[in-house]
Amino acid sequence: MSNRAFDLLVVGELNVDIMVKGNVEPTFGQVEKLVGSLEVCGGGSSAIFAAAAARLGLRVRFASIVGDDIFGRLMLDAMSAAGVDTSQVAVDPAISTGATIHLLRDDGDRAMLTDLGTIAEITSDLVDPEWYRTTQHLHLASPFLLQGLYPSMPGMLRRAKRSGMTTSLDTNWDPAERWRLSGFFEHLDILLPNENELLAIARQPDVEASLEAMLGRVPIVAVKQGAQGALGAQGTQRIQVPAFALDVQDTTGAGDTFDAGFLAAWLAGGTLEQALVLGAACAALTMRQVGGFNGQPDWEEALALIESQAPAHAPALRALRP
Ligand SMILES: Nc1ncnc2c1ncn2[C@@H]1O[C@H](COP(=O)(O)OP(=O)(O)OP(=O)(O)O)[C@@H](O)[C@H]1O
Ligand SMILES: [Mg+2]
Repeated sequence: MSNRAFDLLVVGELNVDIMVKGNVEPTFGQVEKLVGSLEVCGGGSSAIFAAAAARLGLRVRFASIVGDDIFGRLMLDAMSAAGVDTSQVAVDPAISTGATIHLLRDDGDRAMLTDLGTIAEITSDLVDPEWYRTTQHLHLASPFLLQGLYPSMPGMLRRAKRSGMTTSLDTNWDPAERWRLSGFFEHLDILLPNENELLAIARQPDVEASLEAMLGRVPIVAVKQGAQGALGAQGTQRIQVPAFALDVQDTTGAGDTFDAGFLAAWLAGGTLEQALVLGAACAALTMRQVGGFNGQPDWEEALALIESQAPAHAPALRALRP
């Protein structure tokens, strides 16, 4: 680990996920229906990522904004419980904390309803310039959702690299499907898309053509492939790791938790393959429980899964543990 005060700077959204389970579709006309279960969970791609990284022992500094309301306090508690430093999170009583209702069907499909609330207020003004010198790595996620931060992201990545930081980006999906990312790749070390996002970003018909296009711009691309596992690419190297086989309850936050596991190994000096394995193990473990934060492992829990299903990787990964 670095000798800087923090390992990770994350700037992003803190919002609540309300998870409604059961095969129930809402019907207007004041029809009340009973659902299987309803749970209020911490959410937001950046928040889930930051919590997962903190659980893996990284020292995480989180810049964000919440409302002075129940959801805001829930998020600050969830982040603190995971070990994230939230001392720099702004509280604005004039805005409500962002929230999403997820209607989950038994077949794995879902529908989402989102109130952006504070998410729309996240800008680079929340970042103290000093943090670029005192943090090792900058991770940004969901540029197409964080509309107030999006225009500043290329400049933040450039500033991070010039201050000696390393950088990563998980674009997540672009709801407008425009995929405008001009200036995002010049100062990026690691791109963490899923497979569909990779094809859209690269504007190519298949994975290999997309990787070739992106590797001219970014040194490392780690592609999340759902139940197929993950594919890492660096130069001419391609490394495929399978998914871990666990009972899947809810895939919310699997990609973000994968990112955290990947970076925990990579920042500790691990190889591309070791980073992929730790990412896949952390993602599989969080899917055992409903909600993005629930089930996120510490190193011991991740190592136990790796020892049982990918034992060849266990000794090297154990040695990377902080
Ligand atoms: N059914 C599954 N079983 C085991 N592991 C899985 C499964 N689905 C996903 N994973 C693991 O989780 C990782 C990330 O999941 P996924 O490919 O869905 O990312 P994503 O689309 O970015 O997710 P998110 O919706 O959270 O943004 C995969 O690379 C894989 O290792
Ligand atoms: Mg994702």
